[in-house]
Amino acid sequence: MPKVEQRSQWGSKLGFILAAAGSAIGLGSLWRFPYMAGESGGAVFLLLYLALLVLLVLPCMFSEFALGRFTGKNPLGAIEAIRPKSAWRVVGLLSILIPVFVTSYYAVIGGWAFGYIFKILFKNTMPFDKFIADPLIASSLFSVFLVLNVLVVYKGVEGGIERCSKMLMPLLFVLMAVLAVRSLTLPGAHKGLVFYLQPDFSKLNGRVVLNALGQALFSLSVGMGAMITYASYVSKKQNMLSAGGYVTLVTAIVAFTSGLIIFPALFAFGEDPAAGPQLVFIVLVDLFAKMPFGNIVGAAFFLLMSIAAFTTIISFLEVPVSYLIDERRLSRATAAWGTGAAVFILGIPSVLASGINPALTRMRFFGGKSYIDWRDFLWGTVGISLCVLLISIFVGWVWGADKALTELKQGSKFFDKRFLCLPVTCGSIWKFFIRYICPLAIAAVLIDGLITH
Ligand code: PHE
Repeated sequence: MPKVEQRSQWGSKLGFILAAAGSAIGLGSLWRFPYMAGESGGAVFLLLYLALLVLLVLPCMFSEFALGRFTGKNPLGAIEAIRPKSAWRVVGLLSILIPVFVTSYYAVIGGWAFGYIFKILFKNTMPFDKFIADPLIASSLFSVFLVLNVLVVYKGVEGGIERCSKMLMPLLFVLMAVLAVRSLTLPGAHKGLVFYLQPDFSKLNGRVVLNALGQALFSLSVGMGAMITYASYVSKKQNMLSAGGYVTLVTAIVAFTSGLIIFPALFAFGEDPAAGPQLVFIVLVDLFAKMPFGNIVGAAFFLLMSIAAFTTIISFLEVPVSYLIDERRLSRATAAWGTGAAVFILGIPSVLASGINPALTRMRFFGGKSYIDWRDFLWGTVGISLCVLLISIFVGWVWGADKALTELKQGSKFFDKRFLCLPVTCGSIWKFFIRYICPLAIAAVLIDGLITH
């Protein structure tokens, strides 16, 4: 008989909340959010993002929480436990493959941010495109960043992921607060605040709504198996509803604060807020060079980005690792290092395509996308939207919204109270959303993604 490992559990509710928030708060909140807001009219985008996050994406996160804790399994095992040997297996498989493929380019970008901590601290002036095209720099940053991530996952749920989240997440919050104060006290910062916080409703159109919904969807890390997997380690006694609320709140606060760091600084130095994806690595770096003690502020900013990417990657690696432990009966060590090796191999083209290999760097996919943009579109946009859509249909219609709600209620005192029928109303609203509204809204993001790209 092979030795079956005891299934892990979080040591505390706080550990689960910080780990799940660590998954949600990633490069997306710090880098994609500000540049999307910059391109989509600032405050209008922010308001829409917050509303859609709570109304549409939180219900999807709850459906993943229910699926994970009810079955106590990885995404594929969870689907199999509810509908054995059905075509729905594909959704489970997708939930395991997406994080593997996303990590294969996400860790490359995380490695750049990690390298930038030292580059800025030591005032190295090498331009961004040369930096990422240096074979030694690019490959060692990617490898070191990935190995550190694998090490944490290898240490297990409580001893690795939870411990690491409890150390890094508070550091992330402190760094954000310090950077926001620094940025807000720069002369001329108020112009950035006006741009960011004063809504101009003439900018409101369908494109802005879809951008905000897409951003909200990607920011909570749904559709990547991560929330199913993390919830599978939650005890039945814990209140997942309040945990989900806290994760959403913290993620929203971080995304909001990243705007408070970036816009006042950009406007104070007269830079363009709609600079696109290069906003962080090029525009911000220019700006740190002009600021007093800019090398320390800049290093702190890239430390912040590295932590955010780090805790996100941990959650992505844990998905295939939990599958390999649950279903393939591998030891955690073999599962973790095996997954790391697979991600490393899949990541090599992303390292090469950023300047090292001229042919791959020049190659364009799907209407002009670079290699990494194309991977992100395929897995990060299409893959995730499709997966969230299918999971909400699976939970709402196949497993049944009532059964999922019963699971969600466990451990929550909210549903014991009969105060003004509020719990019943909230339950019915959730069921209605997960069956009708969420699938329709996510289908819109998916179709929009396919058409506009
Ligand atoms: N929510 C995470 C982030 O914002 C993870 C994520 C990565 C989600 C890539 C979608 C795509 O970084």
